[in-house]
Amino acid sequence: MTPLRLIPLDDLVVLPGMPVSIPAETGDDARVLLIPRRGSGYAKVGVVAEVTERSGRRRRMASLVAIHRAVPGVAHTDPDGVLRVDVEERPDISPPPVLTRELEREYRAVVEEILELRGDDGRVSAFVRSITEPGALADTSGYSPDLNAGQKLELLEALDVVERLSLALRFQQDRLAELRVRKRIRDDVESGAQKQQREYFLRRQMEAIRKELGENEASLAEDYRTKIAAAGMPDAVRQQAERELSRFERMGDSNAEAGMIRTYLDWLLAVPWSKRSDERLDPRHARAVLDEDHAGLDDVKQRITEYLSVRKLRAERGLTDDRRSGAILTLIGPPGTGKTSIGESIARATGRQFVRISLGGVRDEAEIRGHRRTYIGALPGRLVRALRDAGTMNPVILLDEVDKLGADWRGDPSSALLEVLDPAQNHTFQDHYLDVALDLSHVLFIATANVADTIPAPLLDRMEVIRFDGYTTDEKVAIGRDYLWPRQVERNGLRPDDVVTGDDVLRLVISDYTREAGVRQFERQLGTVLRKAATRIAAGDQPKPVVVDAGVILEALGRPKFHHEVAARTGVPGVATGLAVTGVGGDVLFVEAASMAGKGGLVLTGQLGDVMKESARIALTYVQSHALALGIDERKFDSREFHLHVPAGATPKDGPSAGVTMVTALASLLTGRAVKSTVGMTGEVTLQGRVLPIGGLKQKVLAAHAAGLTDIILPERNEPDLEEVPSDVRQEMRFHPVSAIDEVLALALEPNALAMVA
Ligand SMILES: Nc1ncnc2c1ncn2[C@@H]1O[C@H](COP(=O)(O)OP(=O)(O)OP(=O)(O)O)[C@@H](O)[C@H]1O
Ligand SMILES: [Mg+2]
Repeated sequence: MTPLRLIPLDDLVVLPGMPVSIPAETGDDARVLLIPRRGSGYAKVGVVAEVTERSGRRRRMASLVAIHRAVPGVAHTDPDGVLRVDVEERPDISPPPVLTRELEREYRAVVEEILELRGDDGRVSAFVRSITEPGALADTSGYSPDLNAGQKLELLEALDVVERLSLALRFQQDRLAELRVRKRIRDDVESGAQKQQREYFLRRQMEAIRKELGENEASLAEDYRTKIAAAGMPDAVRQQAERELSRFERMGDSNAEAGMIRTYLDWLLAVPWSKRSDERLDPRHARAVLDEDHAGLDDVKQRITEYLSVRKLRAERGLTDDRRSGAILTLIGPPGTGKTSIGESIARATGRQFVRISLGGVRDEAEIRGHRRTYIGALPGRLVRALRDAGTMNPVILLDEVDKLGADWRGDPSSALLEVLDPAQNHTFQDHYLDVALDLSHVLFIATANVADTIPAPLLDRMEVIRFDGYTTDEKVAIGRDYLWPRQVERNGLRPDDVVTGDDVLRLVISDYTREAGVRQFERQLGTVLRKAATRIAAGDQPKPVVVDAGVILEALGRPKFHHEVAARTGVPGVATGLAVTGVGGDVLFVEAASMAGKGGLVLTGQLGDVMKESARIALTYVQSHALALGIDERKFDSREFHLHVPAGATPKDGPSAGVTMVTALASLLTGRAVKSTVGMTGEVTLQGRVLPIGGLKQKVLAAHAAGLTDIILPERNEPDLEEVPSDVRQEMRFHPVSAIDEVLALALEPNALAMVA
């Protein structure tokens, strides 16, 4: 037994069959003993290895192949200083297959599975399969990267093959179990991640599908959808709403345009598409309501009840509203005569909602129809807003002040109104902003105006005009007593029995402190009086009830504002009292004439309109050409210039009806005969001196009556209009229908000339 050179191995266990390359001096030896260190000594078993190659500097690198186990014996150092050891070589003694077959099979199966788990490409398993000896088979474990050095050492030291194989099997089984757990964890992690990814994908898909179906997760859109469904819109409108909604959904809430779409949808939803009040078309009930809210106005109330009766009949007989069947009620009259408030009463009488659209100063068609949506900040027009405010599709809409509509480059609002008011068109009214057809045919439109002349003619043509001409003093007293006084009492925090007054006191307020066709100033004055009374009662220094008499009125309202004006003004020749209708109702107006040195001609002042200026020229020409007949010295025209003035100078005036008054003023001036202070006149005059009819007689008469005039000169052809004048007023006045100017002068001028210079 030759002693073998001993090569200790650090951190390395070489099992039989394994080739290794290690730094080691092998001299010229063919065989060496490789033995791992263990602690401070060596393992109990090593391997005999054959040196296959020596390389490196001074041949210090050796390639070796382990052959079989060997148990080291006595060691000694040879003369060269090399450590040599006696070994007992222990090649494997193969046990009978029965002992190892089970282990072998098991081992192979385990290793096979391990290799599979490790993703072996088949080479290692082929190698393992090629090993047939059970001992060698166990030794292949030495290659396994997962066994530690301690385990490999154990394998090395297991000289018994069966023992070794079962040891290797145990090691490999542990390894397999470990690998399996590892794989499961990895699989779990992997499948977890995959699951998440899968879910993410599904969710995205679902979102897309929902979006397609319009079920965006945005509850906003959902909200709109329910609202649209519940709004009862006509099909076309609903489709439009849905189109916009899906545009909104596709866009996402963050888009700037989305905000605009929402505003649009909000407006679309604000229209009360399917809501209607139950209309009450009972004329008797209507009349009762109108009477409750307003004194007098008999003819107006009658017209309104007639109108409602017709509507009722048409409805009962199933007649649809065709053109002209539903002409628009238009209330025309001076301010404060109850037009707006009777509109409200009509709504109450018919059980409809009431909305008022003020058209005063509206110059832009877009006000009525809205702006197209392409405009920044576009809004629907007034009608859509009115419907929103009403909350129903069949309200009473009061088009207030149609006479104050303007028109300019922005478009003519009256053309939009034409469409609104035309029963043939208004069931498909288009608002530019909403851009859908709106059915206005169930709306009861009522228009109001102060004067008819400035209402655009095509509009006026569609209107059924009801005139409010203003109240007589008696009517005002009644209104004051029954409506305004109680209302102002309440408004000033008083109880009905706190203050008392009488008709004569109300009359005093009307005649001395107001000059109007309506009752607005009157109500305001009553308010002032009652406020003062309330102050006193609140101060507690007043026995109740407070009696409001002439003294209290004087104290509260001061000196009379309008008094005996006519007599004072017409005391001198050259001043004549005319009657006119202005935007605020009938009024008396004074025409003043004067003459001065000059080259002939006429100066006109007082903001006269063209028609009135022409009247003035006609008047002068007439007087001049008829001087002889009028008893005027023709020389009075030589080198004279004439001046006509119509106060109040700040108020614009127009119309031909002051013609007779101007002739009278000039004639009075030139003849020196003053105009009778009880006379008021109205009438157009021609160059031939004919007196032509005028309009607004009732209003003029009421104003004359209120101003204390008793004689009215009027064109003969206006005589039938006197029927409209309330009979109590008629009885207190004398009327003088005339057809020519000389009749006027005969009636109006005092018989004797005053001693005055013309
Ligand atoms: N006949 C009446 N009976 C009771 N109150 C009346 C009557 N006429 C008018 N009034 C009251 O007078 C006030 C003014 O009336 P309203 O506002 O309706 O006038 P209007 O004709 O619309 O005037 P404007 O042309 O200036 O708009 C209201 O408070 C109204 O109730
Ligand atoms: Mg009004």
